[in-house]
Amino acid sequence: MQRSAGCFCRKKTFEPCRGCYTCVETKGGCVIQDDMHILYQKIIAADALVFATPIYWWSITAQLKTFVDRFCPLSSEDLKGKKFVLLMTYGAALPNSGPEMVENMFKEIINNFEMDFVQVYSTCTEEYLPVAENKDAQDTVYDLGKNLFVR
Ligand SMILES: Cc1cc2nc3c(=O)[nH]c(=O)nc-3n(C[C@H](O)[C@H](O)[C@H](O)COP(=O)(O)O)c2cc1C
Repeated sequence: MQRSAGCFCRKKTFEPCRGCYTCVETKGGCVIQDDMHILYQKIIAADALVFATPIYWWSITAQLKTFVDRFCPLSSEDLKGKKFVLLMTYGAALPNSGPEMVENMFKEIINNFEMDFVQVYSTCTEEYLPVAENKDAQDTVYDLGKNLFVR
């Protein structure tokens, strides 16, 4: 049975990375004592990481960026082989370089950690439908989750 846990970044309290590199130098983890320490345990225990974000200014939300920046104490020893899924919503219809740029950014990050980038799904909300009203999007992402470990 695969382990799963979810959280909304905005419901957690974590500070931005200070760039002190203490985690790298001491291998003793992050010096900032906040909710990230619970999340580090969940990330390490997980079989897959699924990140979901709206596109904000051709990028990810500040909340998700802050979360990703705090991955500094983690290494491929912690993350290697975990599956990675990226879900995005965006406002402006395609062609829209935002989702593509974010996908490319995560491919680099995931490659760095030797994780397995398995799926990306994105949908336009403003010129099409909000996700809450978009049954196709909901079904697609549900199936994606159901089949994540069936390969
Ligand atoms: C600060 C801000 C910046 C945004 N920047 C972009 C953008 O660069 N490209 C885009 O397509 N949509 C942009 N949007 C629209 C959001 O991506 C869109 O509303 C999103 O689908 C909302 O998703 P949600 O309903 O899941 O929160 C932006 C919205 C906000 C609030």
